[in-house]
Amino acid sequence: MPSHVLVTGGAGFIGSHVVDRLLQAGHRVRVVDALDPQVHAATTGGGAHASIAAFPEHLDPTAEAVRGDLADPGVADAAVEGVDRVIHLAAAVGVGQSMYEIAGYTRANDLATAQLLEAIVRRRGAVKRLTVASSMSVYGEGRYEDADGDAVPPEATGRRREDLENDRWEPMDGAGRPLVPRPTAEDKPTDCSSVYALGKLVQEQMCGIVGDAYGIPTTALRFFNVYGPRQALSNPYTGVIAIFASRLLNGRRPRVFEDGQQRRDFVSVHDVADAVVASTLDDALPAGVFNIGSGASVCIRELAEQLASVLGRDDLTPELTGNFRIGDIRHCFADTGKAERELGFAPKVSLVEGMAELAGWLETQEAQDNVEAAGRELAERGLTV
Ligand code: NAD
Ligand code: UD1
Repeated sequence: MPSHVLVTGGAGFIGSHVVDRLLQAGHRVRVVDALDPQVHAATTGGGAHASIAAFPEHLDPTAEAVRGDLADPGVADAAVEGVDRVIHLAAAVGVGQSMYEIAGYTRANDLATAQLLEAIVRRRGAVKRLTVASSMSVYGEGRYEDADGDAVPPEATGRRREDLENDRWEPMDGAGRPLVPRPTAEDKPTDCSSVYALGKLVQEQMCGIVGDAYGIPTTALRFFNVYGPRQALSNPYTGVIAIFASRLLNGRRPRVFEDGQQRRDFVSVHDVADAVVASTLDDALPAGVFNIGSGASVCIRELAEQLASVLGRDDLTPELTGNFRIGDIRHCFADTGKAERELGFAPKVSLVEGMAELAGWLETQEAQDNVEAAGRELAERGLTV
């Protein structure tokens, strides 16, 4: 039977792909999105502070689209009216920016989630299932072993500022030997190092607590680094692939922090959207917390080189700045075993295929390179060194 699904943040990058899948499968979709100008500036071409009148072209016009800020109780109430499933993707997503726009991030992420949940609770019994977007950022550093293959406790994996200032990038054991990064599973204790990460943990736990109390199966999906078409290219606080792509498209070399050997797990937005839709619609699947990544890792320098190559700009070699961002982790990539076993999650898009698809889309885009300005803003606040 078709469902009526609310997708918060549905005009955004991940949300718009989720909406496509839901509509294709014959479901009714309502999108509620504040159309944050920092994310949606490109749709008007009016710069970062332009006022946005319209939803982006990438949002399927057959979805019901409502502009509104979920932190407003009236908006949240209207959003949930008549729906039987909720996918909560709305969030402010700039990790560095969250460290100075603290109140704004707490409103957009924590308060908006609280209002949404109150609205769901007021319509007790109507919402059958809830999925919320969480993030690998809740882990802080990923999982490590020492050189002897023994597990290292999370509190021993941090990096001291003094080490970073002296180009000692890898977390070390007591004897000064580099730790060995391993895939991170859901049972790794959380360790938030940004207001954004804390907000994601609050969203995940608040939804879980309320879902348990009212018998609503609730799933938090911890996305790793998501990439693909429709990623906000002009938002300088977005992920590294979009940042590198917008620099390359503007004829500039990607600027790589540290020594470029830090590893991440880049997962295609298509695989992420599949996981979101399955966990929301399939009542046979268990609720809970799951990693959603590709299960593979790549270092950032190699990523910059591969992306330049895909865009036909091998001449724009990565610039290794030796700078670092305060609060950055060194390595984190997903152990996706739990999602595979319990949700049947099977990522289909390889990094090479995904970058080729991204390149095809990028050719149709005009990216503003706002990265310099964002970098200055972080530096002025002492958040990059
Ligand atoms: P995005 O910025 O493209 O989309 C987020 C959307 O939410 C935007 O359209 C924005 O206008 C809207 N929004 C923000 N605050 C709102 C509010 N208070 N009320 C209504 N709408 C609001 O980001 P995305 O990459 O599509 O991220 C979607 C979700 O996935 C977020 O919750 C994010 O934290 C999470 N996530 C993303 C990644 C990634 O790599 N992209 C990784 C981990 C987690
Ligand atoms: C962070 C969040 C993650 C979020 C993502 C996108 C943490 C631990 N994780 O991930 O939840 O989804 O941001 O908002 O907070 N880099 C460069 N040059 C650049 C930009 C980045 O070298 O111009 C490097 C960074 O130093 C980092 C890597 O690329 O090592 C990835 O950075 P980024 O895309 O910002 O994501 P994360 O920090 O992994």
